[in-house]
Amino acid sequence: MSIDGYVDDAAAERLLLSNDADFDRVDAVRAGCDAILVGAATVRQDDPRLLVRSAQRRQARVARGERATPVKVTVTGSCDLDPSARFFALGDVDKLVYCASPSLDSARDRLGEVATVIDGGDPVDVHRIAADLFARGIRRLMVEGGGTMHTQFLTAGLADELQLVVAPFFVGDSRAPRFVHDGDFPWSPARRATLAEVRQIGDVVLLRYALSDRFDAAG
Ligand SMILES: NC(=O)c1ccc[n+]([C@@H]2O[C@H](COP(=O)([O-])OP(=O)(O)OC[C@H]3O[C@@H](n4cnc5c(N)ncnc54)[C@H](OP(=O)(O)O)[C@@H]3O)[C@@H](O)[C@H]2O)c1
Repeated sequence: MSIDGYVDDAAAERLLLSNDADFDRVDAVRAGCDAILVGAATVRQDDPRLLVRSAQRRQARVARGERATPVKVTVTGSCDLDPSARFFALGDVDKLVYCASPSLDSARDRLGEVATVIDGGDPVDVHRIAADLFARGIRRLMVEGGGTMHTQFLTAGLADELQLVVAPFFVGDSRAPRFVHDGDFPWSPARRATLAEVRQIGDVVLLRYALSDRFDAAG
């Protein structure tokens, strides 16, 4: 996020906040996960690949008996998703779409060829997502945004770790999306989160917060 807490600006093109060294660190974190989740708005606006980029890390995953890249997961109420988006088109890996119950039939018509469409409830419930992913063998999930998804996983108390990277500039435009939205977060002035690590990476800083006893300092 920017110094003032934004994860994008208000323009159509994606804003790059990190530097190359931090993008490579994120690639390593991805390579250590079983699945990566982004909200449907991020799929529509950023058209992310969500692949492990490093050939060495992909090979190491395959050597461990895993797919080269983690399972991709998204969440939608409207199911307004393009089956040709890179989320669906790239990577020899499962793509899971947790869809709100009323849109389930239209979602299966539209995306059934390129993804596994799952009834997530109405609205989609993040506890249900976590339980279903666990049943599918997913043990380590990386939630990569946007703010709507961060807010739900954090307020539900489902996140074990928060990795926050602060880029050295301001966005200064309240129309831009923020890191989180309003919500009842478990960490408050009366219950402070545990700051587990501070790491300078060139001109950005990584803050790692331990949010549960499942936090893995080495992870
Ligand atoms: N800097 C970064 O690291 C970073 C990372 C990721 C994203 N971003 C930015 O974040 C922005 C998007 O964030 P956002 O908060 O607007 O959107 P988002 O979290 O990416 O996606 C929100 C969408 O997800 C679906 N959704 C989420 N929770 C749901 C629920 N419980 N039930 C049903 N559907 C649900 C809805 O999709 P439908 O509308 O389809 O119903 C909702 O509109 C973009 O500007 C992107 O560039 C930044």
